[in-house]
Amino acid sequence: MTRCLVWLAIILLPVVILGGMWVARRDPTKPNWALPTQMATSPAYKAQSSNPVFVNQATMQTPVEGTLPRGAHAFHYAQTDADRKQAGKELANPFQPTPETLQRGQRVFQTFCLVCHGESGRGDGPIIPKFPNPPNFLSAQSRQLSDGEMFHTITLGRKKMASYAAQVPWDDRWRVILYIRSLQNQKGKP
Ligand code: HEC
Repeated sequence: MTRCLVWLAIILLPVVILGGMWVARRDPTKPNWALPTQMATSPAYKAQSSNPVFVNQATMQTPVEGTLPRGAHAFHYAQTDADRKQAGKELANPFQPTPETLQRGQRVFQTFCLVCHGESGRGDGPIIPKFPNPPNFLSAQSRQLSDGEMFHTITLGRKKMASYAAQVPWDDRWRVILYIRSLQNQKGKP
């Protein structure tokens, strides 16, 4: 009797396994079978999809004029020398040259600015002279610039220097200015 059962199992086992595999087989080119949950197929409109609710049919709406996203800063200056002067008068550096601030400023400087402005700020970065010389930060003229004027230059760019607003966030721009100040305060020939 037990023998009979063993033989039956030996014959049935492949049938069960292969049959199970056949039932569970799936076409890898098609998405797997899934319960339609609201997590997977959200009823909300997708950011890029069209939208019958709004007049302009777009789900992603442009911000209302005069509003700022959270954490954003307004910068009401044009890319002119007059506005640079104005920014110099009105904007103050919110940071103090603490070791942490300077360390962050150095990191930003070495990542984005060193190529042109040079390790010590003398305008002798590795890209020079393929790229026209930037001013020497240790010169009297650069020392006279206020933090606000520097901030204006970094934010909007000036002449050959492009804007670094996209690469360097607002707070980091103030920190990198303090780092430039620390370069200016180092002893040595300009
Ligand atoms: C592609 C080269 C290049 C890079 C990179 C660059 N700069 Fe400049 N930068 C210049 C040039 C050229 C000028 C001179 C612009 C002008 O004629 O007013 C300048 C001017 C400046 C000035 C004004 C100095 C003065 O005496 O007028 C500041 C401040 C400054 N850069 C900061 C930075 C900071 C901070 C970074 C990095 C976030 C940076 N720059 C990256 C080329 C560069």
